[in-house]
Amino acid sequence: MNRRQFWPAAGGVLLTTGGLAYLATKPPQATRPPVPPAGAVPLLPDEREILRLAALAPSGHNTQPWRVTRHAPFQWTIGNDCTRWLPAVDPAQRETMLSMGAFMQNLESAANYLGYACRWQLLADNNQAASMVDVKLAKAAGLPAVDVTGLLRRRTLRTGYRDQPLAPADVRALTAGEPGYHFFRRASPQGQWLDAQTLAANRQQTYRDAAEQELSRWVRFSNQEAARHRDGLTPASMGIGGVAGWWVRHFYSPATVMKTSFREQSMAQVAEQVGQSGGWLVLTSPDRATPTLLDAGRRVQRLWTQVRGCGIAVHPMTQVLEEAPFAQQVNGALGLAEPIQFLLRCGYVNDYPEPVAERRPVEWFVQNGAVGRNMA
Ligand SMILES: Cc1cc2nc3c(=O)[nH]c(=O)nc-3n(C[C@H](O)[C@H](O)[C@H](O)COP(=O)(O)O)c2cc1C
Repeated sequence: MNRRQFWPAAGGVLLTTGGLAYLATKPPQATRPPVPPAGAVPLLPDEREILRLAALAPSGHNTQPWRVTRHAPFQWTIGNDCTRWLPAVDPAQRETMLSMGAFMQNLESAANYLGYACRWQLLADNNQAASMVDVKLAKAAGLPAVDVTGLLRRRTLRTGYRDQPLAPADVRALTAGEPGYHFFRRASPQGQWLDAQTLAANRQQTYRDAAEQELSRWVRFSNQEAARHRDGLTPASMGIGGVAGWWVRHFYSPATVMKTSFREQSMAQVAEQVGQSGGWLVLTSPDRATPTLLDAGRRVQRLWTQVRGCGIAVHPMTQVLEEAPFAQQVNGALGLAEPIQFLLRCGYVNDYPEPVAERRPVEWFVQNGAVGRNMA
């Protein structure tokens, strides 16, 4: 059974996803500013734009765990919204920190692009802290030139990888000046270990009910659910287009996710995914401290916003880091001493669709700060 037959089979009917375009494709820059809800924080246009671009950051299950408290114009606390954690697969909020780091990187790139410098102050000394960082933005000259096209067009792509190893020159260009990246070709012992163990860890997680229930809470099968939440995983963001996408949007529900047929079809899809790639990019960090994890999230986002320029797509597959005993074995198997933070399946693709994952409007994650709060 391959991916083309996957989704509808879980509902009892076989259809093909075929090569049809996504039914819900959106151009990346397409935003008519949403009408602010009553009582929304009155953001200045540049503030709204910087936060909109920041929120294009990736996050596990697309939970978008950030919350921004606005104390004054361009003075914000970036917070960690515990209602958006994934305790079943990320009990220590390690991945939440990586997502927050990616958000911070986007925020800084967007601010620089619009002519603002960022002054950061770290607040958190653990992954569960409600307030992560303070940031103050001020107009400045001489900022690094930033091209936000890569940020706007970045996406997770899960299918359509060519079986061609990344060229050493591309790996060098993408990781230049960024410590902690390691590339393994598929044919290498490490690449083969990652392919096989990613499949095994996925199987284990798929049949771990707590993890599957958590996934079911973040899947937005119908258009109505997607529009209501503007987060989570939609059929389009999972690469299910065409007739299959229509079927899934109309006939699937969170309960479908718990069915054996669904779990088995998920496994078939993962097998197809690990069977095609240009290798694995692995990111390590010097330690596991909260600021180090935020920095790892920033580093991954810097790479991820560039890969498209080389025709390369990226797909984080994190189950090996989430499941025992794989998480305890991975360093030894790859011959890496430092903690591993990201496992990125990557490869060249012929067809690189535009981003389709949902994002909450800015007003949904910004709140007013307490009057008189001083920021350093
Ligand atoms: C820390 C982290 C872990 C992730 N793990 C996975 C994963 O295991 N499998 C997967 O398919 N996508 C994974 N993703 C990708 C997210 O699902 C994706 O970023 C999100 O759905 C938003 O889509 P976008 O990246 O296209 O904007 C991960 C992303 C982050 C930041």
